[in-house]
Formats: sequence, structure tokens, C-alpha cells
Amino acid sequence: MNAPDFHIPGMARPAPSAPAQGEAPAPDEPPARSVAEVLAQSQVEQVLAELDRDLVGLAPVKARIRDIAALLVIDRLRTGLGLQSQAPSLHMSFTGNPGTGKTTVALRMAQILHRLGYVRQGHLVAVTRDDLVGQYIGHTAPKTREVLKRAMGGVLFIDEAYYLYRPENERDYGQEAIEILLQVMENQRDDLVVILAGYKDRMDTFFQSNPGMSSRIAHHLDFPDYSVAELMAIAGQMLERQNYRFGDGAGEAFERYLGLRLRQPHFANARSVRNALDRARLRQASRLFAERERALTREDLVTIEAQEILASSLFRKD
Ligand SMILES: Nc1ncnc2c1ncn2[C@@H]1O[C@H](COP(=O)(O)OP(=O)(O)OP(=O)(O)O)[C@@H](O)[C@H]1O
Ligand SMILES: [Mg+2]
Repeated sequence: MNAPDFHIPGMARPAPSAPAQGEAPAPDEPPARSVAEVLAQSQVEQVLAELDRDLVGLAPVKARIRDIAALLVIDRLRTGLGLQSQAPSLHMSFTGNPGTGKTTVALRMAQILHRLGYVRQGHLVAVTRDDLVGQYIGHTAPKTREVLKRAMGGVLFIDEAYYLYRPENERDYGQEAIEILLQVMENQRDDLVVILAGYKDRMDTFFQSNPGMSSRIAHHLDFPDYSVAELMAIAGQMLERQNYRFGDGAGEAFERYLGLRLRQPHFANARSVRNALDRARLRQASRLFAERERALTREDLVTIEAQEILASSLFRKD
């Protein structure tokens, strides 16, 4: 099936060196000549530093993002000197197990691309198959186009992208969405960056069956599972941000909990940490709620006790 040629209207290509709207340097500011100047003008260094600081682990992902940022900064400098510069291909795939930070990193990526002027707005539109593919004939193209229109000027993040392709169903409308995506990824790549996310093995199979898609993805980032130590650090960070802390023995209990949870089905890395902490907060609240008459101190209110962790059903199995 061939989707008709189509272009999202009203999206003139910005000059590649044009800084992102709202963060433009003063018009009389000379074009940047050094990497430091581009980094300073675009405030990209700040996003990279935040990424380093806010996200635990992910060393290979952080390194790849620095590489991509370097490519873009050098591209800006080249354009500034009138050197041949094609809009670099920026479509990416983020593969990894659930809860490894793919969505979180995609949001930062959108910021970086925006600050360096590669997308006009830097917003992220996250979708899955159901947002792109219709149930009936004729419904898919308008749905996909509507999503693309919303994502123009930013990043389109397609979670579990491989569900678009269902070879077992000959008449699957997913193929229509793929065709439209392929065209836009090629023709409007200066104003839309597509990130495909999902499990690594399924994504590999998807790329094998869809060479057109594979050839348009320039950067493959693989998100490793977190170690228990990293999950503990993530837990510490989440608690601190929400003004909680582990009381005596609660940290140790949580580490034991993680060791058990890791081996359970549907383990979802940092997301499982977040969910476990949410449940612990609930138990803490119930415990305090029961003490009607006692004046609660700050200490009471911020502390998650070991019992709140050990109450998990995981410890009950024997
Ligand atoms: N390295 C990290 N450091 C701190 N927090 C993290 C890290 N990675 C993920 N998180 C947190 O874990 C939660 C899940 O992350 P995120 O949604 O980015 O994962 P995902 O890979 O997109 O998962 P899914 O495949 O389930 O959509 C978020 O609350 C996020 O803030
Ligand atoms: Mg996600």
C-alpha cells in the first residue's frame, strides 16, 4: 500500500543555525565560533549536566547523548562558517526493559534538540500504536497525520513501536501508519525527530522486517537494566525529592525487597522502585493515621520504617 505523498503544512524549514525560539541570542551577537560559545548560547551544557546529575547510572546512554550533542554543536559551527551542512539525521531508537528511563531520557533529548535549534518547540508527544492506527478502513491516515501535526517542531516518541507491524495480519492498518511515518521522517526530518522505544529483541525483529525504518534511524541507544546498587540510589533520590527518608533498618529491608522483586515477573526497574515506595508511603500514612491523639513530629512524617517495607507480600511467601 502506498500512502499519498504528504507534507505537514505550515512548517517552513528553519535555517539550521537558527537558535531555538525564545532562547535566541541577541540579534547583534556574533555567530558562535567555539564549542564553548555554542554551549553557552544554547545552554545545552546545563541540560547535559542535569542529565548526569538527575539520572542514576546509564553511563552508556549518557555518553551517546554527549556524542550526539557534540555532533550537533559542530554542525552548528560548520553552518556558521557556510560549510556544507545537511540537516543531520536524528531519528533514534531507545531500547531496553520497562522502567529503564527511556521516556525520561527522551524528554531531555527533546530539550537538547530544542536548545540547539534542531526542533522549534522541543515538546514530546508520546504515543503507542492505538494513537496512530484506526480500527476501520480510512481511519489510520487521519489519525497518524493528526499525531504528526501535534508532534511537529518536537519529538514524536512511539512506545513499543513494533506493534505497528503485524505480519500475521495481512490487512493490518499498522502498515499504513508506517508508510506515512517513513515519508515524514525523510521529508520533514529538520522539524520532527522520531524516537522508537521498546524491548531490544522485538525492536531488532521489527527493523529486520522494516528496512525502510531501520535505515532512517541514525542512533540506537540501549538502556541497560539497573543493578541493585543503582536501584537503591534511585530509591534514595526519589525519597529525598519527596521529603521522605528510610528509618532504622528500612534501607536494608528495601534492598532485600529489591533482591526478591528483581526475580518476579513484570519487574520494571526504576518504575518498580517508584511503585514500591508509593506503597510504603501508603502504609506509613495508615500507621500514623491510626495514632489519632499523638502530635506528629516532622520526624514522624518523613520517616518510612522498616515495617512499611517488610509488610510487602513478597516477604510473606515461604
Ligand atoms: N536513571 C534513573 N535515575 C533516576 N530515576 C529514574 C532513572 N531511570 C528511570 N527513573 C525513574 O523511573 C520511572 C520510570 O522511568 P521511565 O518512564 O523513563 O522508564 P521507561 O524506560 O520509559 O519505562 P517504560 O518502558 O515502562 O515506559 C520514572 O519515574 C523515572 O523518573
Ligand atoms: Mg516509557
